[in-house]
Amino acid sequence: MSRKVLVVGSGGREHAIVRQLAASEQVPTIFCAPGNPGTASVATNLDLDVMDFEKVVGFCKAEAIDLVIVGPEDPLIAGISDHLHKADINVFGPGAMGARLEGDKEFSKEILASAKVPTASYQAFSSSHAALKHLDNVKLPVVIKACGAAQGKGVAVCSDRSEAEEFIRACLDDQQFGGAGLRILMEECLFGPELSVLIVTDGQDYCLLAPSRDHKRIGEGDTGPNTGGMGAFAPVKLESTMYSQIDSRIVLPILAELRRRDIPYRGVLYVGLMLTESGPQVLEFNCRFGDPETQVVLPLLRADFLEMCYQTSQGNLGDFLQGIHEVEDIVPQDWPGAGASSWLRQAVVVVGASDGYPGKYIKGRPIDFPPEVSDDRWVIQAGTKLNDDGSVVTNGGRVLGAVGTGATLELAQGIAYALLDETHFEGLVFRRDIGKSGEK
Ligand code: AMP
Ligand code: GLY
Repeated sequence: MSRKVLVVGSGGREHAIVRQLAASEQVPTIFCAPGNPGTASVATNLDLDVMDFEKVVGFCKAEAIDLVIVGPEDPLIAGISDHLHKADINVFGPGAMGARLEGDKEFSKEILASAKVPTASYQAFSSSHAALKHLDNVKLPVVIKACGAAQGKGVAVCSDRSEAEEFIRACLDDQQFGGAGLRILMEECLFGPELSVLIVTDGQDYCLLAPSRDHKRIGEGDTGPNTGGMGAFAPVKLESTMYSQIDSRIVLPILAELRRRDIPYRGVLYVGLMLTESGPQVLEFNCRFGDPETQVVLPLLRADFLEMCYQTSQGNLGDFLQGIHEVEDIVPQDWPGAGASSWLRQAVVVVGASDGYPGKYIKGRPIDFPPEVSDDRWVIQAGTKLNDDGSVVTNGGRVLGAVGTGATLELAQGIAYALLDETHFEGLVFRRDIGKSGEK
């Protein structure tokens, strides 16, 4: 029997998710709420308010949905999975308790401290007076974070004091991030290459997907302001000891701490790491798949993605993992679940953005897509919209992602960039150096 799946969300990540689901041998029926013109090519888009959980439950019951996969953090933090769970609907994505790891950065620091997992030292503030005074005692650069979820905009790495003062006032006095910024963390700045680790877990067993690297800054050479992500590649090749350090010092203690606190977690836990000279340290948690990391991690899966999510939602990940056979002898030994991904291929996604992003930009510009895509090159849509005349136009800062896969990073990069050169809209900008830090 073919499974019926509902994917919640409308970005590039959700397009990548429905694309990967569609590749399942089970030939599923896929719905996406609300979706985008890209998801519409493989799924049925639904005009459904995903924050209205009763409506979502009602749809799932009426359609006999077998599995819901939740893409973005907002519905997870607000408890969509708890609602679905109560209605006996299988869901891949944690309940509100687990999603607090992303929704409350002070809570995530508490978890890291109890689990004795390395992370930047910090202090929390609710008053700008106290925070500004504390600036006298910190070393620059300093990192300031809104405690709540602020659509990826709530973090500033401040190299001088005036920048830090401005961000503190923006959060605590001007309330630019609403309730999310009414409490802030002031953190020690860590240095090193970053790494995104996606842990698929049902609370008992877990599997690590291929490690990836996001390029968060708008400018080449990692300069300029942070964005939602300008591109990514996977797998990142690490020194062999790093694989075991990530598992033993980071992943295992975090999952054990969640169990110790009776926090159920069925879904993906994204751990953002800084690979410092003294070893990996945690920068952040997300309670969902990363964007744009998902666009490169999922195409490397050897395991059936739909079945992996379904079994995870049922608490049967352990059985599922036993069915995965190691076929390549180069998979890292100390990366649990390594056999679920292919390590002989590389994937690169380069984000095509609207000129002006992450500041102001113009929407509604017609997009010309490349005439040909194939199994090793395709376009993921993110900030796009279907016009009344049937054409697809820009509708966001990060408009699309060109994905290339190949036997080496250089090949995959070449394919992604060639694809982007065949993609046109007025004001298209992208970074030319995605994947260039692949040697680290
Ligand atoms: P977050 O939303 O917490 O991931 O932060 C966004 C980005 O800010 C990270 O990907 C890092 O590039 C940077 N960042 C966050 N925390 C730190 C830190 N303690 N030291 C240096 N950079 C950081
Ligand atoms: N790529 C970072 C994130 O998904 O939050």
